Amino acid sequence: MRQQIVAGNWKMNLNLQEGIDLCKTIIALTSDATRKVIISAPYIHLASLVTLCKGTNVKVAAQNCHHEISGAFTGEISPAMLADLGLEYVILGHSERRAFNAETNSLLAKKLDAALSQNLKVIYCFGETLEERKANSHLDLVTQQITEGLFHLEADTIKNIVLAYEPVWAIGTGETATSFQAQEMHTHIRKVMTAKYGSEIAENCSILYGGSCKPTNAKELFSQTDVDGGLIGGASLKATDFVSIIKA
Ligand code: PGA
Repeated sequence: MRQQIVAGNWKMNLNLQEGIDLCKTIIALTSDATRKVIISAPYIHLASLVTLCKGTNVKVAAQNCHHEISGAFTGEISPAMLADLGLEYVILGHSERRAFNAETNSLLAKKLDAALSQNLKVIYCFGETLEERKANSHLDLVTQQITEGLFHLEADTIKNIVLAYEPVWAIGTGETATSFQAQEMHTHIRKVMTAKYGSEIAENCSILYGGSCKPTNAKELFSQTDVDGGLIGGASLKATDFVSIIKA
């Protein structure tokens, strides 16, 4: 049975104390949650959050990492440093990093290798823009993002990958994919994974939906057969909203 996961992506929000307070509330309110809970915070909050979350139901993720393990890369953070903090997850390929930091599928393939080499699990994000959906090229585009970012990996590493489909037009816009659109894409993703890795691995791979997921639409989205939880931006910054999504 594949894992049901709800991950919060704080992006570049909350100062350290606000993050600690939010994390404490999430821990307190999710001890009985059946879904795995992950919070993804700015780098400088991670050490404090890992300490807070030790022994709880909540896991901590970084929002990015560099594709090298060490070296002359001023201002960058290595996956080895994240692993050393006791982190379990890193998000790679978020559409904001693809758009604002020119992250390509081939760069992301290297980042995935670097992260996996340090025993981090990767939440690999991808999704189409509005123009790509209007041009009806969204399925092909997602196939390409998966193929170029992921398909160099051996089958036995896929258990360390969580996929996150996030249509760019739904991120932070208030416009959510319909449950039909989400299920259609997730079925497609699982088909693409099956063709490469076989049905057992594809069936066990969690595929999250992200993009304006809220307490009011989470239940409907998560009830789709191939939607295994969500990656939550804005609504993860408010404990009550995030917890109600986790429990949807
Ligand atoms: P949103 O962001 O929930 O605010 O749309 C989702 C994401 O970017 O992961």
